Amino acid sequence: MVGPSFAKIAARYKGKADAPTVLFQSIKGGSRGKWGVMVMKPDTKLSDDDTRVVVDWLLAN
Ligand code: HEM
Repeated sequence: MVGPSFAKIAARYKGKADAPTVLFQSIKGGSRGKWGVMVMKPDTKLSDDDTRVVVDWLLAN
């Protein structure tokens, strides 16, 4: 295991007004220092629309 589970991410961010923005930026731009010492690299292939679909899915589960 390297990153947090989708369930843990959803539990942390659900109901927060800025969640869609934060998660969008984390997926597109990468994330570090929010969960542990491991880094998630930026995603360079996902379109903005597809990233929004992933974020919506994450927060709906
Ligand atoms: C479908 C692919 C993936 C999606 C949608 C995804 C999404 C996310 C999201 C939303 C977060 C939370 C960021 C935050 O709190 O703002 C996260 C964290 C993280 N992910 Fe991923 N991730 C994916 C694949 C991966 C892969 C392949 C790796 C490692 C090789 C990885 C490693 C991490 C790590 C280490 C963190 C925690 C970073 C931190 O401490 O800030 N992720 N991921």
